[in-house]
Amino acid sequence: MSHNSLAINLCQEYQISQVQQDQRKLFVHWSDGHCSQFHYLWLRDNCYCPKCGDPRHGEKHFRIVDVPLDLKPLSVHWDSGKTIEIVWEPDGHQSIYDAQWLRQHCYSATERERRQHRPILWDSNISNNLPQIAYEEVKTRDAGKSQLLKHLRDYGICFVRNVPSNKGELESFAQSFGPLLETNYGRVFEIIVDPEESQKSVANSQINLIPHTDDAYQYAPPGIIFFHCLMANKNGGGQSTFVDGFQIAEVLRQEDKEAFELLCRYEVPFRKYYRDRIDMRFSSPVFSLDSGGNLQEVRISNLFPAPLDLPEEIIEPFYAAYRKLMQLYTDPRYCLQQGLQPGDLVMFDNHRIMHGRTAIGINNQRRHLRYCSVDRDYFQSAWRRGV
Ligand SMILES: [Fe+2]
Ligand SMILES: [Zn+2]
Repeated sequence: MSHNSLAINLCQEYQISQVQQDQRKLFVHWSDGHCSQFHYLWLRDNCYCPKCGDPRHGEKHFRIVDVPLDLKPLSVHWDSGKTIEIVWEPDGHQSIYDAQWLRQHCYSATERERRQHRPILWDSNISNNLPQIAYEEVKTRDAGKSQLLKHLRDYGICFVRNVPSNKGELESFAQSFGPLLETNYGRVFEIIVDPEESQKSVANSQINLIPHTDDAYQYAPPGIIFFHCLMANKNGGGQSTFVDGFQIAEVLRQEDKEAFELLCRYEVPFRKYYRDRIDMRFSSPVFSLDSGGNLQEVRISNLFPAPLDLPEEIIEPFYAAYRKLMQLYTDPRYCLQQGLQPGDLVMFDNHRIMHGRTAIGINNQRRHLRYCSVDRDYFQSAWRRGV
């Protein structure tokens, strides 16, 4: 567990029923029977009075080195379960804490566990119940936009239907979430099958692309990716594929813990080299976990590998783990395959969801997708703010 960037806010109202103290901590007993322990140092550090910072923006001016390690209250008062007021030794500084705020930030194991966001993991069966929404809903109703953000948070993916194809539509829609990212291909990139363009990106080629996360060779790969379908193939081929990287991780953790741990520990190097102008390299473990073992990020790409650079004795076990991983993420059981139609937009979290494409036939080159991306931070911010 850690302070999860998608931590759930608990909405219930709690009353304080008793407050006790010892040498280092305050014990707050709540009406539901839960007891929170708050260290004095933590409480003093989290005073948001105007002297300690700017309460409007959460900025802090207080410095923890300015109080003694054995800091103690001079007095503690609690008022009808709404606030706790502490006057501190030795300077007499006064801090007032809102009871609900305290409960929302209680760092007991049970409350931290309860706040943890749990992604909804999925496999190919998600095709029976796709996270999707009509563009009209998202554009005209806050509830529609909230639903979209919720799908992205929980499933890492959402399909938006009936998005107009006019120039600039995708751009302005994506910008309503945050600034568009500048990528190697520009801010808005046209994915059209074109032998000339295929030198620029494999996305423009006809080959089968096995699932991957984009731009794994970058320090910060794109966050939320948008694919807007403008033209589709008539005879199949060029279908989009998606795999839940978190699901793959959990299956591997269950089936082969040793392999999973190797992939969490050792780095895979990636490199993108392009017409003598770009030489980007980054190494990262396949799975990044927080301190509680929760998945934070998946980085998988067979498209831009660089030579493994690991201790000699790790090479063989690592390849064994890497092969298991690849067997899993190319297994149709975990793959959502969708033939996108003109007007379909798919948005997905590139730090969780892998995407790919089936091969495009030689006489079947009509597929046209428009691509752009926005950082994850803006989505999470919008989701927290409730719009
Ligand atoms: Fe890609
Ligand atoms: Zn203060």
